[in-house]
Amino acid sequence: ETDTKRGSIDSFVSPSTPIRRLPDSWNIWEQSLSQAIRQSLKYGSSQGISDGERSESGNWRRSVVQLPVLSIEGLLDSVANMRRARLVLTMLLHFYVHTQPPSMDDVVHIPTSIAVLLHNISKAMGMPPVLTYSDNVLYNWSPVDLSSSTPSADDELECLTSFTSTPDESHFNLTSARIELRGNDALKVMKLLFPTQQSATFPDPTTISSALLQLSAIIQSMTSTLLDIRRGCDPTIFYTQIRPWLNGASPKPWVFDGVEGPDRQPTKMAGSTAGQSPTIQCLDAFLGVEYLTHTADGQIPNPTIKSENSVLTGMRSYMLPSHRTFIEEMIPRGQKLRSFIQCQSPSSGLVEAYNKAVTALKEFRDAHIRVVTLYIINPSRSAAQAESVGTGKAPEKVMGTGGTELLPFLKGVRDRTKEGLL
Ligand code: HEM
Ligand code: ALA
Repeated sequence: ETDTKRGSIDSFVSPSTPIRRLPDSWNIWEQSLSQAIRQSLKYGSSQGISDGERSESGNWRRSVVQLPVLSIEGLLDSVANMRRARLVLTMLLHFYVHTQPPSMDDVVHIPTSIAVLLHNISKAMGMPPVLTYSDNVLYNWSPVDLSSSTPSADDELECLTSFTSTPDESHFNLTSARIELRGNDALKVMKLLFPTQQSATFPDPTTISSALLQLSAIIQSMTSTLLDIRRGCDPTIFYTQIRPWLNGASPKPWVFDGVEGPDRQPTKMAGSTAGQSPTIQCLDAFLGVEYLTHTADGQIPNPTIKSENSVLTGMRSYMLPSHRTFIEEMIPRGQKLRSFIQCQSPSSGLVEAYNKAVTALKEFRDAHIRVVTLYIINPSRSAAQAESVGTGKAPEKVMGTGGTELLPFLKGVRDRTKEGLL
């Protein structure tokens, strides 16, 4: 497995169990991260943070600044080590940035001790130097029973590393990981229709119909997994303790000290969000609705508009290059498939099967909007009420960790998915 490989993909989620710890030579990073987790460092702008807690996180940040700039050469030989190194360094980075108390500075400086290494590893992997969904979801789980050779969404899973060590954060990450594992079944179905990268013709309509019906069932099971988030992740804990850590370089840009050249410019970056899920974007691509869902906020969908600037397309630059390429190669094929189906007579059942799959995806997005209401909108209202009683200040606008304005964006994407019906 390499992260820059082009071509076929059987699994977006790590194809084998990710490693739990880096080899000894890089142990000081693991130790520093364990310390931050063990001390339950508090989010720097959280209310009611005590002087003791502030000085504890200040001490920890000073220890991070003093970490030696280790060589990463030995890491670059192993994808498993590189992936773990990214998880550890991006989590150190987010702890470092987000434990800082509010300040008047325009930018946030990332100390050389983590900036240079994270930069080099991220460059080698074609990723931005920030925590992404591929770090805290795709490569952050393990089956509890290590003898299970092909992990599935229904296995008992554990989350390897989390900011808060709460069962709620594990459940949140694993909900996405399970959906991605279900995505492996979706990838198999896609392969039935496009057995090779070059496949130019489609199989017979019965095969296509049956593939689309299988896909609808897979998407429906993704929706029930999504709704099962309520079984193990408490909305208030999620809102107050978990999601703040996922925020990226926003609103203040980050400056990576010790990094040379243009990469030294203050940089704004999105935080980790399932908007970076390769599986869901691949479903849009396969069903040929990518150009509808990926137009920018509030724009009328128009296939002739170049969609590079749209939010979801932008999120692809936070995916592993091999995942991004796979999706981008799926787009023209999905559009061809959709046009082919559009030309079939209604009696073939093809249009009906296709519409079932699009409806399942639209219903996934309906369920997701319910989840966002429960986990962000409702708790943000309660928090705003509590704050205005104390201070009389207008509450700050709540944004998604990926930087979007939540419901208008998500409803727009859902409505466009519906417009994909034939
Ligand atoms: C996008 C919240 C769980 C899939 C988003 C966005 C928010 C959000 C706010 C907008 C992008 C941003 O600014 O971050 C949540 C919350 C969740 C949750 C609060 C649970 C507590 C999931 C799960 C999945 C998922 C488990 C499945 C893998 C997506 C997708 C998008 C998205 C695909 C992009 C929009 C779309 O394609 O419809 N999510 N999410 N989310 N989320 Fe979630
Ligand atoms: N994207 C999710 C949020 O905004 C995690 O809370």
